[in-house]
Amino acid sequence: MGVPLFDTATPLAGLHDRLRAAIERVLDSGRYILGPEVSAFEREFAAYCGAGHAVGVANGTDAITIALRAMGVGSGDDVVAPSFTFYASAEAIPPTGARPVFCDVDPHTYCVTAETVRAALTPRTKAVIAVHLFGNVAPVAEIEALGVPVLEDAAQAAGSRAAGGRPGALGAAGTFSFFPSKNLGCFGDGGMITTSDEAIAERARTLRFHGSHDKVSYEQVGYNSRLDELQAAILRVQLPHLDGWADGRREAARHYEQAGLGELVQLPRALDGASPAWHLYVVGHPQAERLEVALADADIGCKPYYRTPVHRQPAMRKWGAGVELPGTDEAARTHLAIPMSPVLTREQAEEVVAAARRAVEKTPEVTRHKPPYPYSQ
Ligand SMILES: Cc1ncc(COP(=O)(O)O)c(C=O)c1O
Repeated sequence: MGVPLFDTATPLAGLHDRLRAAIERVLDSGRYILGPEVSAFEREFAAYCGAGHAVGVANGTDAITIALRAMGVGSGDDVVAPSFTFYASAEAIPPTGARPVFCDVDPHTYCVTAETVRAALTPRTKAVIAVHLFGNVAPVAEIEALGVPVLEDAAQAAGSRAAGGRPGALGAAGTFSFFPSKNLGCFGDGGMITTSDEAIAERARTLRFHGSHDKVSYEQVGYNSRLDELQAAILRVQLPHLDGWADGRREAARHYEQAGLGELVQLPRALDGASPAWHLYVVGHPQAERLEVALADADIGCKPYYRTPVHRQPAMRKWGAGVELPGTDEAARTHLAIPMSPVLTREQAEEVVAAARRAVEKTPEVTRHKPPYPYSQ
């Protein structure tokens, strides 16, 4: 039958009437930028995360740049960031004037660790970007214990939980993307900065609006980067459903485990105390490219997201050349995302696992992965 890589339509199917009503409400109001929907969504999203403030911006990339600047990052500073992540996590650093310094990840959790961050610290490190990759939750408290403030890139982790709280409320500030395929997605671009630090929130509010409080006096060179009223209204309809969708993602992961996927590939490992709302379900295999071909032949959606890590991208040459990150290279070479959504059924998971089993057993090139995975400690 085939299983798609993700399904964003089914979870929204029951919400169409409420979404249309929300869109009409904005149309009738005539307020499109920084109006009551954005203010209400900022309050609701901050409360959901357990953060004191939320500041809506145009997308998750701007959210990182603006949050870093609001945290005081600027010219001459270093910002430590992983290389195994979506490009934007690092791309957002140079516009602040700071330099990205790449650190490694644990290829089991796909997240940075206190050790990998420590190895990348410099006397100029002003902040660390901890990416909660694929919905896993990076160890923010352990990293902040090194004495550096953490900006959580939680673009992929809406709905996840950790022992210390939710992403967005674990570090000095957090950033989210509401790109349509995200765990909480709008119908265009959107982003959010969360923080419990009033001064960071205030600077972020000013920066998103041309560096001005009042459009009369311009105190900083800022941005035109706002979440708009339509997107906020759409997100307000969805936010109450986020936890249910996150449970569906966790349930899908359980289906995979119960169907025996762990006998065939390395399963993603949640960090201690974390309850990830798997945005992407990413498995590891020494011959991931061949597994990909075999799964695609069986009509199973699958995709390697970050085969070339960020520090090896042409635009990052200035900062990435000569940097050796063995865990990142391993993750880049062996990872493969397989179907995941809040509505992935047991039958679909079994179909994916059956296809993976056929690939491993019948395709001579795709060897069986034997636990423990060769890169475990
Ligand atoms: C980890 C991560 N960081 C940042 C971003 C950037 O978000 P946006 O696409 O909204 O700019 C994304 C989105 O794809 C992401 O996955």
